[in-house]
Amino acid sequence: MQFLEWNDTYNIGVKEIDNQHRGLFDIISKLFTSRMVEPDGKYFFLTLNKFAEYAQVHFSTEERYMQEAQYPKFEEHQREHNLFIAQVLQYVREVQNKKPDIENKTLVFLKEWYLAHILGTDRDLEIFFKTKGFK
Ligand SMILES: [Fe+2]
Ligand SMILES: [Fe+2]
Repeated sequence: MQFLEWNDTYNIGVKEIDNQHRGLFDIISKLFTSRMVEPDGKYFFLTLNKFAEYAQVHFSTEERYMQEAQYPKFEEHQREHNLFIAQVLQYVREVQNKKPDIENKTLVFLKEWYLAHILGTDRDLEIFFKTKGFK
């Protein structure tokens, strides 16, 4: 299984958010690579923790922009963020407890999330932020 190739069309046009989306992308890529080369899974665990932290930083940044812009779908978007964090922390625990096949399940989950949220739900912000003059 492979992660995605980076493509500049993934950007939504607000620099701070785009940099963080790229940062999240890069950490997920590292998880995919480490899964293939690493025997004991220590790096995978540490990197997944780093990812969970960085995702929380990113969500607070994005939510700040949404609030400032009075984005009408703020609450449902924030719910998606909160749900995601809860799920990632659950994966962190399961990786720590070495649940069978958990690393592969984590990767499938992260890839699906990137496609559905970053390249899906967050896309809706692009036009809205543009009308607010954010960049
Ligand atoms: Fe985002
Ligand atoms: Fe988001």
